[in-house]
Amino acid sequence: MEIIKVKDSTEGGKVAFDLLEKEMQKGIKVLGLATGSTPETFYEQIRNSDLDFSNMISINLDEYVGLSSDDKNSYHYFMDEKLFNHKPFEATYVPQGDAEDLDQECVRYDKIIEENPIDFQILGIGRNGHIGFNEPGSSFDLQTHVVDLTPSTIEANKIYFDSEDQMPKKALSMGIASILKSQKIVLMAYGESKADAVKKTVQHEVSNDIPATILQKHDNITIIVDEEAAKYL
Ligand code: F6R
Repeated sequence: MEIIKVKDSTEGGKVAFDLLEKEMQKGIKVLGLATGSTPETFYEQIRNSDLDFSNMISINLDEYVGLSSDDKNSYHYFMDEKLFNHKPFEATYVPQGDAEDLDQECVRYDKIIEENPIDFQILGIGRNGHIGFNEPGSSFDLQTHVVDLTPSTIEANKIYFDSEDQMPKKALSMGIASILKSQKIVLMAYGESKADAVKKTVQHEVSNDIPATILQKHDNITIIVDEEAAKYL
């Protein structure tokens, strides 16, 4: 694991952007993308750049169950706002949260991932060590699946909704088996609330209880952390 310490999320976004630019110069095709507050500065860097994504494909990690792509709280809407409306891609994929048949949606999504192997995967991390929405206890062998969000994740993400009642308690998430197949992974973590999860990701023995620990087994991962998130390292 390569660990890059930065001052703050602004610098972290720049470092992640530089890594992406370098990989795109080598000709990569498929990006795995995350939502949430962590990658915002990274997307800002992309929006302000002249990097061309018209030959690129993106595959997002997750989506809330029940939310349509035009729901303002959906991850699809977030991606439109932060990136896709600004940078045209050849194709963009986000799990369909309002699919009638969720099991079939998981199968459809896995086919997309299989047909478009991910070259460069962006990750944030939950306070409980989740990656994507692979919550503690998740099997490392899973592909796309329906997840029951944990109280910790509901607590962290409910602020984006008008009330906790409105926050979906289930999500569709790419599985860890798929995340691990990415050629390169860049995980970003900012703020004190991530410090414990970051320490465990790097130092704890690999365990399903802290899903991000499995990243120790990946041979091309860069972790970008600000001073607060790095405070226990
Ligand atoms: C989002 C995702 C999640 C987030 C994590 C951190 O697509 O996969 O794992 O990266 O919950 O969220 P933030 O960045 O909002 O702290």
